[in-house]
Amino acid sequence: MPRLAAGNWKMHGLSDDLAEARALAATWPDPPVDVVLCPPATLIARMSVVLAGSGMRIGGQDCHAATSGAHTGDISAAMLADAGASHVILGHSERRADHGETSAQVADKVRAAWDTGLTTIVCIGETEAERNAGATLEVVAGQLEHSLPRNATASNTVVAYEPVWAIGTGRTPSPDEIAEVHAFLRGQLPDPGIRLLYGGSVKPANADSIFALPEVDGALVGGASLKAADFGGIIAALGRA
Ligand code: 13P
Repeated sequence: MPRLAAGNWKMHGLSDDLAEARALAATWPDPPVDVVLCPPATLIARMSVVLAGSGMRIGGQDCHAATSGAHTGDISAAMLADAGASHVILGHSERRADHGETSAQVADKVRAAWDTGLTTIVCIGETEAERNAGATLEVVAGQLEHSLPRNATASNTVVAYEPVWAIGTGRTPSPDEIAEVHAFLRGQLPDPGIRLLYGGSVKPANADSIFALPEVDGALVGGASLKAADFGGIIAALGRA
């Protein structure tokens, strides 16, 4: 599978910010790696017009486990697909923290997304306290086991390792720490071909050193995905790796 650069815009992005997606597509008419942009749900349909023909794909940031129903404020996988998404991020640590999402709920959402034909980007990662307690591998193994159904394959699933304490902080694990977790996770995947992304303070300046690590198949990028120049720098680094 090609390497993957996924951008998670989180709760950032108004109409004017589509100019960044437009600039990205103009700079990378034929990107050297797979690229997925995950804007807020309100921008998915319009971004799919902006990125049409670019080879870049679009993802949602969450979906409900049900196909439809009385779930005010929620979005189904079919609605994401209908708006132009091919991917969906599930189990991001911000969803787990802000909305109390459990790994079992994430697994239900993963199945719903697969049923609709979406590729899932399933997120796992330890808190700083868990790392300090030496529990990192145990935590990510448990999250992976319970968030990801065992019939996951490389074609319907991507896994993103995002240490919670590295998200938006400018801090990253050491190369050895990232390599250790990725090597461990590779052995835990139901399909060893599933792409394993690293996420947490990835920037153009540190991208080369992260992408040089074994078992790192790309990145899930937050803040640096909002600007075409920054995300483009990360795409370029991944293309070089
Ligand atoms: P930052 O790249 O802003 O640290 O965010 C990472 C992340 O949470 C992507 O899902």
